[in-house]
Order: sequence, then structure tokens, then C-alpha cells
Amino acid sequence: MKFFIDTANLAQIKEAQDLGVLDGVTTNPSLMAKEGIKGQQNILKHYLDICNIVTGDVSAEVVATNYDGMISEGEILATLHPQIVVKIPMIKDGIKAIKYFTEKGIKTNCTLVFSSGQALLAAKAGATYMSPFIGRLDDVCTDGLKLIEDIRIIYDNYGYETEILAASVRHPMHIIECAKIGADVATCPLSVILALLKHPLTDSGLAQFLADAKK
Ligand code: E4P
Repeated sequence: MKFFIDTANLAQIKEAQDLGVLDGVTTNPSLMAKEGIKGQQNILKHYLDICNIVTGDVSAEVVATNYDGMISEGEILATLHPQIVVKIPMIKDGIKAIKYFTEKGIKTNCTLVFSSGQALLAAKAGATYMSPFIGRLDDVCTDGLKLIEDIRIIYDNYGYETEILAASVRHPMHIIECAKIGADVATCPLSVILALLKHPLTDSGLAQFLADAKK
């Protein structure tokens, strides 16, 4: 299973990279705004800074919502750095744009997926990644993990190569359940990755070993 970090914060990306278990980064316009990154040149520079920290794929989202706009924004993003994956929303023109980039050999991440039907369309368009937002589904009393399960079955039935990128992951059990189901990737904040480390028996066991070592 791949781990992506879901942030535009360079210090957190570096901390996750230094841990040695990071496979990539996802960003979105809200995460970029949270870091105070404004204006096209600053945004492009920030994506480059991220690519210079990590070795894996870095999703950079288009903000246009029409086909021509998504193509021109996506092409600028894709030429910025070979690690950039063009992140495109699950809308009608988005599907057409994903198909266009797929045919050009440019990686895409289809974002804002909330149903199996949307996931099927993303795979048919050839998306590299498809991001179901499981936490946001849980927020509205809908089982996000059940969606991942359904998409896994559908993709396996037809051998689609689109990777299931579980997004809006809120806690460590989301990661464990996604791993059991067979999601290809989970993207989450650094705190959720670090939460996987924690067990009280590890802490007390280590304290005991260190105490005994002094004897
Ligand atoms: C994924 O690509 C999104 O950036 C992200 O996971 C959304 O998470 P949120 O629902 O916590 O905002």
C-alpha cells in the first residue's frame, strides 16, 4: 500500500519524507490556501518545492471547470516537473480532460469521487488515480469504506489499472480498513501516519527495557 501525505505544508512533507515511508503527496486548492500560497507563479514554485522534497507523485489540482481551461492549466502543471500528476475534478469536462491527458501519457488524479458510478467513469477515462473521499462520506452518514470495497470489486472485475487512492482519510483505522480492502493508496495528514506508530504496550515495554538495561 502506498502512503501519500495530504498537505501543502513543506515542513510536514519533509518530516514524512524523512520517515522513509512516503510515496507521494496530494494537495488541493484549500490546502494551498491554508499555507498562504497565492498567485500562479507562487503556486507553481510551491509545487516545485514539494517535488524537490519527495521522490514520488505530487498531485496538483486544476481550478478551471471547463475542458479548455483544464487542458491549458493541466499542461502547464505537467510540464513543471515529471513528478506532477494533474488532479482533475469528477465532472463531465473533467472526464474528457482525463481522457485527453491519458492519451498524451500524462498522469491524472480524478478527485471528488463519491460514488461507484463516478469511479467507473474515471477508470474508463484512464485516470492514473481515482480519489474517493471517505471521511466526507462518513461525515454525511454514508459508509466511505463500503464505497472503497465496491470500487475494488468493480476494478478487479475488469482489470482496470486506475489506482484507488483513498482520500479524506481521518484516522488510523481508516488506513487499516483501506489496507484490508485493498485500496492502492491512502492519502492523509501527517498526524494520521504518525498515529500508526502508537501503542501503549510499545511505550511501556521500551521503558521497561531501558530501565533493565541500566541494571
Ligand atoms: C484528497 O486528495 C483531498 O485533498 C483530501 O483528502 C480531502 O480531505 P478532507 O476531506 O479532509 O478535506
